[in-house]
Amino acid sequence: MVVPRLIERKRDGGTLTPEEWRELIGAYVAGLVPDYQLAALAMAVFFRGMSEEELGALTQAMLHSGARLDFGTWATPRVDKHSIGGVGDKTSLLLAPMLACCGVAVPMISGRGLGHTGGTLDKLEAIPGFRTGLSLDEATRQVQRLGCVMLGQTAELVPADRKLYALRDVTGTVESIPLISASIMSKKLAEDLRGLVLDIKTGSGAFLTEPAQSLRLAETMIGIGEAQGCRTVALLTAMDRPLGYACGNALEVEEAIHGLTGDGPEDLMEVTYALGVEMLLVGRVFQDRHAARRRLEASVGSGAAREKFAALIEAQGGNPSVVDDPRGLPHAPVQEVYRAPRAGVVTQVAPRLIGHAIIALGGGRLRTDDNIDPAVGFVVTAKPGQWVEAGQPIATVHARSVADGHIGLNALAASIQIGESAVATPLISHRVSRDGVESMSR
Ligand code: URA
Repeated sequence: MVVPRLIERKRDGGTLTPEEWRELIGAYVAGLVPDYQLAALAMAVFFRGMSEEELGALTQAMLHSGARLDFGTWATPRVDKHSIGGVGDKTSLLLAPMLACCGVAVPMISGRGLGHTGGTLDKLEAIPGFRTGLSLDEATRQVQRLGCVMLGQTAELVPADRKLYALRDVTGTVESIPLISASIMSKKLAEDLRGLVLDIKTGSGAFLTEPAQSLRLAETMIGIGEAQGCRTVALLTAMDRPLGYACGNALEVEEAIHGLTGDGPEDLMEVTYALGVEMLLVGRVFQDRHAARRRLEASVGSGAAREKFAALIEAQGGNPSVVDDPRGLPHAPVQEVYRAPRAGVVTQVAPRLIGHAIIALGGGRLRTDDNIDPAVGFVVTAKPGQWVEAGQPIATVHARSVADGHIGLNALAASIQIGESAVATPLISHRVSRDGVESMSR
């Protein structure tokens, strides 16, 4: 295998054989192919795409680059959900404990922040002591004992995605349907699942901004999942505004805890419940979506999901007292309030600008080896369509210094637009399954 020839072939619109993909990914994980060659190949895929055969081969090569979770004859159905990435999207932090209270188990393998979007692992690591790098054995035992685990790709588990994901994050090669599909599906198929729900973000703050691209991504991933016997369903959800109020790692953990206590922002809870219902349906523990929703609401209302989150944190080395007292989470020393510059209707809260600003404040990465500050970010309470008065506080910047606070205020001024009227986009627009596409907008 001569890697420069493979890169050139892909660059020129050709295809690599399944054997070439297998060999290449194996050599990359073994450290025999340098990052710069994989980055060049990823860029060639970004521009040239992949054939169906290539995508299948890449996904399989990534899936088999390490070991997989294997629950043997354990009867409890395993389900999971994965988002393609958004700003303020903390639904995973709510769903893993909620679902673990509803008769299914959630062995969730997640990623770090990618591009301008946040990552579940970075959010969890904002909790003092929390470990996301569990061994296969630890993860398996925890799922069987507690009903959920939240971990990252490791040297044991989908190591190819661990390396490629970090590389794509900093080389402008995230927004590619085949690369996103192989990345997500290799992680999810390593979890020994009965069912998977995909949250396909769509809109200006998503990796894929056009609904048609989002639908194509959904169909591509559903095809991969179903071919492997994993019932796979996708919801297309809005990412033309942040989800919930909090954007930034520790701030999002705090908001997720509010959600588990029953007082999360309405849009966050709506998307969380909708995804949770689909998870119970693909797990085949409920046939009726109203009954599934009631079960999920009961997990929150009874306090069981909140307790489960505390148990999950404790099991993974974190300090569970943050669930009762969020002062145990990291806090930024500077907070600057942003006020509406005029009266009117909020016409836009651009998530991409907020995501990039979090990176500028130190809460995300520009290089694979960057350390991040978990405390920084934004709380944006303004939502498109809302009327605001001039001078009304509508957002807060959490920053390390006064100078960073001003960077944050400028980002808010660019992100939040106020005008005369707003066009409402549906929070959940489509449901996609092997049976086709259903419009959910009412
Ligand atoms: N989430 C992933 O796990 N991988 C991607 O490529 C994008 C989102």
